[in-house]
Amino acid sequence: MPVIIILKSEHHGNTKKIAERMARALKARLAEPDKIKITELNKYNLIGFGSGIYHRKHHEDLLAFVDKMPCMKGKKAFIFSTSGARKMPLVNNFGADLKEKLLAKGFEIVGEFSCRGWDTYPLFVRPFGGISKSHPDEKDLNNAEAFAKSLKVQL
Ligand SMILES: Cc1cc2nc3c(=O)[nH]c(=O)nc-3n(C[C@H](O)[C@H](O)[C@H](O)COP(=O)(O)O)c2cc1C
Repeated sequence: MPVIIILKSEHHGNTKKIAERMARALKARLAEPDKIKITELNKYNLIGFGSGIYHRKHHEDLLAFVDKMPCMKGKKAFIFSTSGARKMPLVNNFGADLKEKLLAKGFEIVGEFSCRGWDTYPLFVRPFGGISKSHPDEKDLNNAEAFAKSLKVQL
């Protein structure tokens, strides 16, 4: 079953590294939101949505792309992100906004993945070269691959 991953990775290409590892494991196509027509999604049963976290949310282009979708009942989705701070339920529940939008469109969410990504956005971290500097690291990439392989049962 064909899989597509819709990806926006703007800050340091952190999420792109994760997405590429997932795409390899799932033999998935990778596409940016502005490079694909929503009607093209018809041919995919499993669709991944990922980006860095910007001001506690997924990238606005990704959220806008989802807003434009018609009802997607019967389709499966997975969500992923990278962020300077670790995602933590209740404290940093990054991804909740995207999940809510996808559920409202009728998607079944079959998995979520997140890891840290090199972040040089806050001014106070720049003199030190940023935070989460080495991420995604090999362990993050291996975790992403294992996550993607776990989704194969959905295909
Ligand atoms: C404008 C901006 C806002 C950000 N906001 C957050 C945030 O709210 N929480 C967080 O943990 N990281 C935040 N970050 C860090 C990014 O989420 C992190 O560097 C991520 O890995 C970027 O992914 P990318 O390289 O794929 O774009 C922000 C970065 C930028 C540039």
